[in-house]
Amino acid sequence: MTIPTYTLNDDTTLPAIGFGTAGLRGEAAVEATASALEAGYRLVDTAVNYENEREVGEALRKSGVPRDELRVTSKIPGRHHGYDDAIASTHESLERLGLDHLDLHLIHWPNPSRDLFVDAWRALVDLREQGLVRSIGVSNFTAEHLDRIIDETGLAPSVNQIEVHPLFPQLEMQRANEERGVRTESWSPLGKRQAPLDEAPVRAAAEAHGVTPGQVILRWQVQQGNLPIPKSATPSRQRENLDVFGFELDEAEMEAITALGRSDGRLFGGDPDSHEEM
Ligand SMILES: NC(=O)c1ccc[n+]([C@@H]2O[C@H](COP(=O)([O-])OP(=O)(O)OC[C@H]3O[C@@H](n4cnc5c(N)ncnc54)[C@H](OP(=O)(O)O)[C@@H]3O)[C@@H](O)[C@H]2O)c1
Repeated sequence: MTIPTYTLNDDTTLPAIGFGTAGLRGEAAVEATASALEAGYRLVDTAVNYENEREVGEALRKSGVPRDELRVTSKIPGRHHGYDDAIASTHESLERLGLDHLDLHLIHWPNPSRDLFVDAWRALVDLREQGLVRSIGVSNFTAEHLDRIIDETGLAPSVNQIEVHPLFPQLEMQRANEERGVRTESWSPLGKRQAPLDEAPVRAAAEAHGVTPGQVILRWQVQQGNLPIPKSATPSRQRENLDVFGFELDEAEMEAITALGRSDGRLFGGDPDSHEEM
């Protein structure tokens, strides 16, 4: 199966879909990541706060996939936002993963009340210059947070990883990213446990295209130019979720799925202006 790639604003590339690992711990994390790599995923998304970097690293080594084919993402937690802390945090992530560089490293949450995310961003800029990180990005940033770091460093992130799924389509934030040359990466891309798999527009599109509801939602993601990172511990679902490049949703199907968006659609993360995640 050929997975299309996105070229980022720093000329590096990422596959158009990746594998999320939040909630996977211990041997389950090794097994799920190993089977995802076997299924063909090449982008793996971890974070200090997922407490599974060692297990993800073990799966990467076991897979035998050449390092230059892999795209490994980690994230700096809120408690590591100071410049020195962000540098130290990155070295620790590399040590746990057993890697000499990360392909993408993100600031996990802006935590505006601490107001240290610009310092963390400066650290990422320097880490990229040192070759320890290939691409640098952010997560859960609003347009204002993006503008702060762009204004202060002249450098836009390659990626903003935000919550996007049919119940919370975030069209405005997707547009804000696009206007700044930032790729939207979609977290909880299916809608996690509340995934609207049984909603009429999703079911209808699944029947029309002979695919599953999960595939319809992930296709809805990539057709918007987003990079979804679905998590599944189930090998058959992992394969299913990767196989979304052989059909196309028409405009009416896309719009009907987007129209599932609700004012209370934000399911898991809080509002980045007030929510803090350490
Ligand atoms: N940056 C952030 O702040 C942030 C926040 C949250 C998440 N994330 C990232 O985004 C990744 C994905 O988000 P998520 O894990 O919250 O939610 P998700 O990927 O939307 O949903 C995962 C859930 O859906 C199930 N599932 C997977 N494929 C399915 C399919 N084809 N049909 C039906 N059910 C399916 C999984 O079950 P099984 O495992 O049992 O198959 C799991 O319970 C995370 O792992 C993490 O890497 C980032």
